[in-house]
Amino acid sequence: MRSIDLLDLLMTSKPGNSIESILQEERSFSPPSEIADSSSIGDLKIYQEMVAEAKSDPKAFWGKAALSELHWFEPFNNVLDWSNPPFARWFDGGKTNISFNCLDRHLSTSRADKDALVWEGEPGDVRRFTYRELHREVCRTANALKAIGVRKGDMVALYMPMVPEAAIAMLACARIGAPHSVVFGGFSAEALRDRLIDGEAKAVITADGGFRKDKAVPLKTAVDAAINNGACPSVESVLVVQRTKDPIDMQPGRDMWWHEVVSAQEDECLAEPMESEDRLFVLYTSGSTGKPKGVVHTTAGYNLWAHLTFKWIFDIREEDVYWCTADVGWITGHSYIVYGPLSNGATTVMYEGAPRPSNPGAFWELIQKHRITIFYTAPTAIRAFMKGGRSVPDTYDMSSLRLLGTVGEPINPEAWMWYREVIGGNRCPVVDTWWQTETGGVMISPLPGATPTKPGSATLPLPGIEADVVDSLGQSVKVNEGGYLVVREPWPGMMRTVHGDSKRFRESYWEYLKPIDGKNIYFAGDGARKDKDGYFWIMGRVDDVINVSGHRLGTMEIESALVSHQVVSEAAVVGRPDDLKGEGIVAFVTLESGTQFDDQLINELRAHVASEIGPIARPDEIRFSDALPKTRSGKIMRRILRALASGEEVAGDTSTLEDRSVLDKLRS
Ligand code: PRX
Repeated sequence: MRSIDLLDLLMTSKPGNSIESILQEERSFSPPSEIADSSSIGDLKIYQEMVAEAKSDPKAFWGKAALSELHWFEPFNNVLDWSNPPFARWFDGGKTNISFNCLDRHLSTSRADKDALVWEGEPGDVRRFTYRELHREVCRTANALKAIGVRKGDMVALYMPMVPEAAIAMLACARIGAPHSVVFGGFSAEALRDRLIDGEAKAVITADGGFRKDKAVPLKTAVDAAINNGACPSVESVLVVQRTKDPIDMQPGRDMWWHEVVSAQEDECLAEPMESEDRLFVLYTSGSTGKPKGVVHTTAGYNLWAHLTFKWIFDIREEDVYWCTADVGWITGHSYIVYGPLSNGATTVMYEGAPRPSNPGAFWELIQKHRITIFYTAPTAIRAFMKGGRSVPDTYDMSSLRLLGTVGEPINPEAWMWYREVIGGNRCPVVDTWWQTETGGVMISPLPGATPTKPGSATLPLPGIEADVVDSLGQSVKVNEGGYLVVREPWPGMMRTVHGDSKRFRESYWEYLKPIDGKNIYFAGDGARKDKDGYFWIMGRVDDVINVSGHRLGTMEIESALVSHQVVSEAAVVGRPDDLKGEGIVAFVTLESGTQFDDQLINELRAHVASEIGPIARPDEIRFSDALPKTRSGKIMRRILRALASGEEVAGDTSTLEDRSVLDKLRS
């Protein structure tokens, strides 16, 4: 991580949770009795008892949960091995399979013919899979993977639109013990190539394309661009789902149609008993240094965490129809579209499209049509709906809803209130869930039957999660004081390492802070405050990671993309508050001498970043200057750039600036 100027950053205005809004926020909402009365955690006291139980004997707490919530081919003999921190081993000796837990174990119950997955395509086509049907599709796909040469331990990359085959492929990989690496379909061919090379993927599963915002978005062409001409030597085969039917190239001997290979397979494929610590997946995420890192999650601990958190937070009932609007390319899609809901035997809804000018009510239409009871989305979407006004949602019948959730970025109290009133009809609790790719599942969130909520606060840590807000020595800070959001003790869903780089794992997450007692504590880049009731208010990233519409991007990645353009000699990227997106991207760029800067170059550089990383990383604004503000030791003073980008006065000490005239020029 680059060095963090914590106080500086916490004082910079972030969308939503500014210190002023926290200190002024006095609204509180008790859990509605319709939920509390029939919930297994229907009172704050029950939550507190669970917290106390987990604290007094964590191993007993997690061990009991693992035995009661998961199926084991062989029981574990050690709940947690923390003898070599930060490398944890959970449930050693045990054998389980998450595909079995998500499918097979429901088949002997009344859930066998219940809808497991309900999918709606953007053009309005609907496909439903009962647990029995989904099991069959997953088995066939698992057999197809074996048939094309994928073996236990081989990495399989997925570069998919939001179609049922994405979930089926994940479960099929898990079934045969092939770790998956899902790459968000909005990433560029270059970004895909980096991830395929880093993960040494043996096979790629993709589609001709998908439908998004009234357009067919191609995918297979990007796969070709990433792997053709031996660019990814590990990739031996490509399985292609037919979705858009647009013409694509199929390379004989390497590329195969999903429908041809899968339909030829047997309906049964036994789930491979996996060791608890066998890899389940790698998912790349941005950090503040270098290339995105492959976050490694393993079988049993991740399964337990996705399962338990889903059960606790969504208070799931047999008749619920649950919908999470994330993409499977992100951790939210992994844990809360696929693994968490299916492990609990719930009905999970998946949507290919997005609200768009031709159908701004697309989400509400889906809620009405499928009688959705639990809805989980991102603050950026809520802010966009809010801007469009209530007249759109008001035309739909959303009386089926009983619970609302948000994830991905801080939610400002006004957006929270709007969500509760307009979408939730003032009756549905809102659960604001804080977590990260690295944590595997939610860490801080209200429990809807137990926790009084306050607009803008993720409220309290889940039982067993020792979260705190600390200074750089690991000491708890005072009430309402800003600090680093940390977790002091291991938990089952924690990431196990960075793929291929255990040093980076140790240094960036567990040794960044230097507690005086010498203990490792987990810190992954967020700042927070705790109020007098112990409620957490997340302030956003305090490192060089920005959160654009809930998408996490490293400023350094964008800088590298800019500098890879021949006319750019230096670049510094910062975030600035954005009413809709949470943060916008502003790039300060110096050019090779003799280069003319004009609008055409701005457009070219924006397009260059989009093609290097993906459209989500395209800068909102590019500013040119002769030089960047640096300290005498050559460090770019980002604090100054952040202030300039958001149009604020440059506050604080600027005496370390090497050349003060740079500041005046940038201002002008
Ligand atoms: O800054 C926090 C923000 O999203 C980051 C994690 O991003 P990612 O790994 O992509 O996972 C997103 C989905 C969990 C965090 O470090 N974040 C996530 N949820 C919240 C949040 N910030 C504030 N409130 C939240 N509820």
